[in-house]
Amino acid sequence: MRKILVLGGTGLLGKPVAARLKSDGFEVRLFARDPAKAQKVFGDSYEIAPGDVTNHGQVEAAMRGCNGVHISIGGEFDRLSAETVAELAPSTGVEYITYVSGSTVCPQNGWFPMIAQKLEAEKAIRECGVGYTIFCPTWPMEQLPRFVRDGRAAIIGEQPAPLHWFACEDFGRMVSNAYQRENSNRQRLFIHGPEAIPMKEALERYIRVFHPEIKSVTVMPVWLAKSMGVLTRNPMLKFFAELMNYFNKTGELGDGSETNRLLGAPEITLETWLESRQTNTE
Ligand SMILES: NC(=O)c1ccc[n+]([C@@H]2O[C@H](COP(=O)([O-])OP(=O)(O)OC[C@H]3O[C@@H](n4cnc5c(N)ncnc54)[C@H](OP(=O)(O)O)[C@@H]3O)[C@@H](O)[C@H]2O)c1
Repeated sequence: MRKILVLGGTGLLGKPVAARLKSDGFEVRLFARDPAKAQKVFGDSYEIAPGDVTNHGQVEAAMRGCNGVHISIGGEFDRLSAETVAELAPSTGVEYITYVSGSTVCPQNGWFPMIAQKLEAEKAIRECGVGYTIFCPTWPMEQLPRFVRDGRAAIIGEQPAPLHWFACEDFGRMVSNAYQRENSNRQRLFIHGPEAIPMKEALERYIRVFHPEIKSVTVMPVWLAKSMGVLTRNPMLKFFAELMNYFNKTGELGDGSETNRLLGAPEITLETWLESRQTNTE
């Protein structure tokens, strides 16, 4: 594997993968619908292929000359991006696909639209005939700052399940190792960080360091968040309430031990992540 195309490289989970592949010596081509944004995030040393995943021809042109494709798109085009790459891989010479799914993706959870998309995306990749690794990450620590807004730290629903928070930096290393070690072909691998901590507790630890002025984490009932989304005609809030309701019910699935054996275990704990983030922002 020499050259990897990254779809979604400007995203939360795509960025550390693109950066780690590059620092590990791969040639990285970023597929970006906003090339100026990609250049701002990554600088000049990355090749950028302008394009949108809804444009078949642009995806095909970007895939030509690449040995691997990493898909980290999500959202409404999650399934489309995986199906397009899977369809084009044999004819463009791509030998390997890595795809970011999720820890709760399983047929029993297919009632939730996001999961139904991911199940179809995984199927397309499994059946396309080239090598692949499907990553099923739980929650990244980098999500914690997103729960703080307007001087409040809030979660929707009790979210009682302990979650194995992982740092995006560890995820980038693990994906890069999959390309280097070539030991995880045709595998579906869970990404779990070193410790299991319920969401409220993880957020409390985050605000203690970064927002000491906020004294506690608010737990907003799901019904209230949904009603506010409807009443304020805020589709984002409504969607987010549905999403958190889903995670409230499902928690986290899987076990990271096989991944850790193959690709090296995540090392960054919540404590070390908070410390390094504090140092970097001082
Ligand atoms: N974040 C999590 O907590 C988490 C946990 C488990 C699994 N996952 C999965 O990981 C994957 C990535 O999630 P994320 O949180 O990193 O997402 P994200 O931050 O929203 O990033 C999405 C990326 O996709 C790009 N993109 C979206 N639509 C596109 C289009 N039409 N054409 C080209 N590029 C497009 C975005 O580009 P722009 O910069 O132009 O917007 C961005 O780079 C998803 O499949 C998600 O389900 C995420």
